[in-house]
Amino acid sequence: MRSSTSIRAWASALVTASAVAATSTVGVTPHASYSSSIGVLGCKVNTNRIAYWPMAVDCNNICVSLSYSGRQVYLLRIDQSGGAHDVSYDAWNYLITGKSATADPTAGGSVNMETENVDASKCASLINTSGSKLPLSAANSMNFLNSCLVEQAAGNASWVAENYVLYNILDPICTYGYNEVCTLTDWPDQNQPTCPHTLGDPVSLTSQPVYNIEYPTGEKVLAGSSASSTTATPNTANAASNMGCSSWLQCQSTLFWLMSMGAVLHSFLGSL
Ligand SMILES: *[C@@H]1O[C@H](CO)[C@@H](O)[C@H](O)[C@H]1NC(C)=O
Ligand SMILES: *[C@@H]1O[C@H](CO)[C@@H](O)[C@H](O)[C@H]1NC(C)=O
Repeated sequence: MRSSTSIRAWASALVTASAVAATSTVGVTPHASYSSSIGVLGCKVNTNRIAYWPMAVDCNNICVSLSYSGRQVYLLRIDQSGGAHDVSYDAWNYLITGKSATADPTAGGSVNMETENVDASKCASLINTSGSKLPLSAANSMNFLNSCLVEQAAGNASWVAENYVLYNILDPICTYGYNEVCTLTDWPDQNQPTCPHTLGDPVSLTSQPVYNIEYPTGEKVLAGSSASSTTATPNTANAASNMGCSSWLQCQSTLFWLMSMGAVLHSFLGSL
């Protein structure tokens, strides 16, 4: 009895120690333009609460807590940065000033903040889908989703595999496709989702706008419009990385289109 109690106490001390060690201090920089390397749809998540971390996005740790000066936010970690710890400009501004970037925009560089991975449920309010499932692009998120489904099939934890929803929208800023849910019912035999319209049809989509908050003006601008891509003049090295493509999914609408045409051709050939 005694020894099992002490083992339990020891194990719980270990768990506590590792929970403490899980909090780390990182230099956080503002990020102006929404992107997601795994194809999370910006029209269905709160793009003002996104973490762009240097590590690859994984199937479990998609929610992080970030604290500074007595303030705290939860952020969806759904994009990989080129090396910086970037967060949505609005989240950065709120942590530093206590106000939204639209109300009181502040400029600046890297600020040290405390972060830790937290349970995905903490980010539920940042996702506007039924059951707060992670909204992914049916045509362009399959590599990532497949990796999560493989993990789940191997018996490993995979939050994304249990909590995703696919839409027939091609790009993270929701400018192409149909706002409709697709299904993947027979994975792995079926590796392409089934949608009401043709999967990956690159029709113009205007009903699901995504807005960015420009750095450092705090102006809300439609993502993908020329204003957001030409007038932002970040004055820090990391904010400047917003201007380039930190990942292939971020800026290549043309690539989306090509990939989608590939998907269309593939299903067409498959139906012959
Ligand atoms: C959530 O999505 C619904 C449509 O599914 C939309 O009417 C509503 O405005 C969205 N809410 C937010 C906060 O974006
Ligand atoms: C499942 O987890 C084990 C142990 O962490 C790991 O070695 C293995 O690679 C994982 N398998 C998959 C498919 O993720």
